[in-house]
Amino acid sequence: MVSGGDAPRRVLVVEDDQAHRRLLLEVLRANDYAAEGADGGAAADLLERVPFDAVLLDGNAAGRGIARLFGESEGGGSTPPVIVMTEDEPTAGLDRSRLHETLRKPLRTDELLRALTRATDGEADARGVAPGPPTAREGVRQRMVGRSREMAALWGRIEKVAPTRATVLITGETGTGKELVARAVHELSPRARRPFVATSCSSLSETLVESELFGHVKGSFTGAAGTRAGLFEEASGGTLFLDEVSTMSAGMQVKLLRVVQERVIQRVGSHHPIPVDLRLLAATNVDLAGEVARGAFREDLYYRLNVFPIRVPALRERRDDIPVLAGHFLRRAAAQAGLAVPELPPATVRAMSAYDWPGNVRQLENFIERAVIAGERRLEFTPADAAMPPAAVHPLPAPAGRAPLFALADMERQRIFEVLDQTNGHRGRAATLLGIDRRTLYRKLKQYEADGICSGCIRRRRSLR
Ligand SMILES: Nc1ncnc2c1ncn2[C@@H]1O[C@H](COP(=O)(O)OP(=O)(O)O)[C@@H](O)[C@H]1O
Ligand SMILES: [Mg+2]
Repeated sequence: MVSGGDAPRRVLVVEDDQAHRRLLLEVLRANDYAAEGADGGAAADLLERVPFDAVLLDGNAAGRGIARLFGESEGGGSTPPVIVMTEDEPTAGLDRSRLHETLRKPLRTDELLRALTRATDGEADARGVAPGPPTAREGVRQRMVGRSREMAALWGRIEKVAPTRATVLITGETGTGKELVARAVHELSPRARRPFVATSCSSLSETLVESELFGHVKGSFTGAAGTRAGLFEEASGGTLFLDEVSTMSAGMQVKLLRVVQERVIQRVGSHHPIPVDLRLLAATNVDLAGEVARGAFREDLYYRLNVFPIRVPALRERRDDIPVLAGHFLRRAAAQAGLAVPELPPATVRAMSAYDWPGNVRQLENFIERAVIAGERRLEFTPADAAMPPAAVHPLPAPAGRAPLFALADMERQRIFEVLDQTNGHRGRAATLLGIDRRTLYRKLKQYEADGICSGCIRRRRSLR
């Protein structure tokens, strides 16, 4: 799947050794290249049919069929830059003016990627290509990466239902990307410019959920100081995303059914019906049909929600996405932390691809972000490193209905301040406890100051409110 916006660069890997070719392709794809492979025999044909931005050529493969193409053909102004991988000197018979660069084997991933950036960016500059502002579709695709067939099928479902007003039931294990799918449906819908309101049904007491969703009038229950609109009203005109619907109490299920059927709500403590114009999306990580069968979820509501089901596959069911996601998170985390992008060695890609990821994409994301924050230069993987605390695999109920999902950056910041409190503001000890180096910690604190999150937090111990 193409990640949109700045279209991925196309690279042709010409290598006769199948195992090495596959490895190179994995590494390149993990780093967002649209890479294709061929042996020396098939390469010339492929090059004539497909426009590539660069060619990665094994010196030995060049000795055979392909030498003709790069060596002898005249005036081939359209041939892309060629990077040759070789054990010794560039292969005889290659026209040196076509060679962009020579890399010595054994290859190092970081060198390879730098060489490719030089080769392909040079091309883009020369062509005067400037990416325009991303369309909604491109924007959504940039955030939701994955090139597996399963992801392509998922995109098909999203694009099919997005323009309609149909209620969508999104199912899948925790951390598979259900919320991301819900946002994609909203952003690709005619309601994209109206509010997207997300809430989890799992966290609050009956009264609070009800007032959270429906609003309340002054004095309707203890603590209801003023009159307030609920999320249904707030989302009116836009999309309401109800996460973890299976956790809704029987009473709430009846009330939700009424909204879905009649499209009106009543604030808690009021009998005055208010019409709402809603697109409803719901998500669950449990088998809702099973809940219906055992009497824990209303059948009528189930059918009202399950108008258009979208199942988000577990990460282990689409292992092709693992390298791509890993590369995506590595670059993003490094950019956020202001660090160099750690190297992603082929052995790590292999080990990650073989692992089952019970916490799915979220677990992969957390693993990579921890590694980047820890200042690792070269990503290594063991299942033990990737293990998550149980709370992260089965997340604790969200704190408040309105903002159920907090960003990883917030969690990181909270943890940093917690540990600083424990060490009475001693940064060296805090850094050790956090498993990051002092400079990283210092830089983060400086950033918090710059962002106005804390003042004087570098000089003094200061807890986050
Ligand atoms: N295809 C994807 N591309 C990029 N990030 C993803 C993808 N799928 C999931 N994520 C990220 O993984 C994390 C978990 O996704 P989320 O939508 O919250 O999962 P769920 O709601 O199923 O538990 C989020 O940080 C999300 O941004
Ligand atoms: Mg979720």
